[in-house]
Amino acid sequence: MPAQLIDGKAFAARLREQVGEAARAFEEKAGRKAGLAVVLVGEDPASQVYVRSKGKATLAAGMASFEYRLPADTPQDELVALVRALNEDETVDGILVQLPLPRHLDEKAVIAQIAPDKDVDGITPTNAGRLVLGMDTLVSCTPLGCVMILKDMLGDLSGMDAVVVGRSILFGKPMAQLLLAENCTVTMAHSRTRDLPEVLRRADIVVAAVGVPFLIKGDWLKPGAIVLDGGINRLDAEPGEERGRIVGDVAFDEALPHVRAITPVPGGVGATTIAVLLRNAMVAAHRNAGLPAPEGL
Ligand code: GUN
Repeated sequence: MPAQLIDGKAFAARLREQVGEAARAFEEKAGRKAGLAVVLVGEDPASQVYVRSKGKATLAAGMASFEYRLPADTPQDELVALVRALNEDETVDGILVQLPLPRHLDEKAVIAQIAPDKDVDGITPTNAGRLVLGMDTLVSCTPLGCVMILKDMLGDLSGMDAVVVGRSILFGKPMAQLLLAENCTVTMAHSRTRDLPEVLRRADIVVAAVGVPFLIKGDWLKPGAIVLDGGINRLDAEPGEERGRIVGDVAFDEALPHVRAITPVPGGVGATTIAVLLRNAMVAAHRNAGLPAPEGL
């Protein structure tokens, strides 16, 4: 049977539609729009693109967007003061500090200042702890999107062998916790894993997020595996190309004959992140306004 291509764009479009409806209902009940604040420090080109897209998508969903662009040399105390002011601002339901931060800033100390109820990335110590404890909480957008896609496709994930490649705080670690909560047998692989092909050969579900183009070869995969590729890697430009192609962590063409289903790059996992961010912001807004959780989100 030919492999199924998992359409992240279609998933995102459906979710955005639901978020839009929830945003309209929220505005009627709360008498204000739900608000999402995004903070960007410095001029990293990829981060600038992400932040612009997040702002546009927030407005398109009928929510208020607050964007803060700070210079690359912003001192720690100024960034912390902004986060604290956003914590206190009643028109702001969600706060996202775009990562990575410039090297002179203490990323973990900044994250720890975000009010857990507004932490739409689910990376404050409180929310990361709640996830580990199996409590209801805000969860990092990309892994939450992956588990939503898997549950849409498969229903029950109980007993499946899942391998997560990568252990970042925004992707690999929460991904493993979410799969564990769905009763998968979870293995976390990373840059020091001794024999990645051997580890991957058992995996019914592979989730990759390491940032190494084409790291995972087709014949490392178990026949019939489901592969979610969270890699977003830009190759060097070929002659005649203005910019290099964006590719994933999985050697996609090689993987196709081996897998049951796979996300393309682009148009797969990456396409879902912003829609899940809007979803998280709506969930946070309802909680912060004392309203019941929005239907279906
Ligand atoms: N940088 C790349 N993706 C993300 C994300 O989902 N959240 C934050 N805060 N920073 C990012």
